[in-house]
Amino acid sequence: MASAAAAALSVVLAFSIFAVSHSVPFIVLHGIGDQCSNRGVKQFTNLLSEYSGAEGFCIEIGDGAWDSWFMPLDEQAGVVCDQVKEMKELSEGYNIVGLSQGNLIGRGVIEFCDGGPPVKNFISLGGPHAGTASVPLCGTGPLCIIADRLIKSHIYSDYIQAHLAPSGYLKLPNAISDYLAKCRFLPKLNNELPDERNSTYKERFSSLENLVLIMFEHDTVLIPKETSWFGYYPDGAFNPIMFPNETQLYMEDWIGLRSLDEAGRVHFVSVPGNHLGISRGDMKKYVVPYLEEQKTGTRDGLGDRESAGKPLLQRLSWPSSLESFFRKLLELTEEKPLAKPLIQMDT
Ligand SMILES: *[C@@H]1O[C@H](CO)[C@@H](O)[C@H](O)[C@H]1NC(C)=O
Ligand SMILES: *[C@@H]1O[C@H](CO)[C@@H](O)[C@H](O)[C@H]1NC(C)=O
Repeated sequence: MASAAAAALSVVLAFSIFAVSHSVPFIVLHGIGDQCSNRGVKQFTNLLSEYSGAEGFCIEIGDGAWDSWFMPLDEQAGVVCDQVKEMKELSEGYNIVGLSQGNLIGRGVIEFCDGGPPVKNFISLGGPHAGTASVPLCGTGPLCIIADRLIKSHIYSDYIQAHLAPSGYLKLPNAISDYLAKCRFLPKLNNELPDERNSTYKERFSSLENLVLIMFEHDTVLIPKETSWFGYYPDGAFNPIMFPNETQLYMEDWIGLRSLDEAGRVHFVSVPGNHLGISRGDMKKYVVPYLEEQKTGTRDGLGDRESAGKPLLQRLSWPSSLESFFRKLLELTEEKPLAKPLIQMDT
């Protein structure tokens, strides 16, 4: 009887070792205005698990959607850093799948998180890696237009930098000196400040096994969409859009992008669709191979381009209480001519 139990136990052990040794877990970091409990992100995480056989975790920051808008990004990265250190499942290493703004948090974790478990592959969907020249707001309603104008004129103020997450990566080509002096997150993340470059960030980032940069061909949220590949505008002008390898960040290898690329570990991918509108076929083709153990770049494998149907992930949502935020902002910034029409339009 004892030996039967032992045999049964060893079978169980064999299976669990088998299961463990064949999959590194991954985490998903969602975009702005989204949260782990939303259907789209849940489904996205579950599908990736199902396709890859790897365990996946959506990591939440604070209360989700609200904090994604209003908690500064260095704090958001700090929250994730603390969580990944606590998760026993990740202690042997893990992969990161970033969605939109979540990519900058992911990169913050890779570069800044002291004592965190090793990150193996980083798969980025629609990440504003080189910044974005437009506030990811709600579109064309009157409140949005005013908020957009207001934000652009105050984006680098201490108040906005401390209270609005996307201000940490809004990079206006016509205000580069303000950006470098006052923007609190991206200049640090990209080692853009000549006197403050930290070689540890570069070391950590360039130790990735694979960096997969997925750009959406019809992205209307990221301006320019090439920022998903680390391409951007030159300082001082809105054209032309530079290839990643034409930027100073790449040429002078501030964060190790060039080292990674020269080692064949950067995969520049372009897929149809608007921001985050990835199809299941493209998930299988470009994301899943990096979540499966010991497979890299099987780009010719699962070629079925299924139609996306309804996009899995919501692009952006506009919390209704943002209105009160902007009202408060208006009071603080004393933009009298703007303040009046805003209140009239706001019904
Ligand atoms: C660079 O970053 C690392 C990791 O966060 C930190 O420990 C170190 O003090 C930083 N070095 C400098 C010179 O700031
Ligand atoms: C930069 O990349 C583009 C597109 O991949 C390529 O055509 C070009 O030759 C590269 N330029 C340099 C200087 O390597």
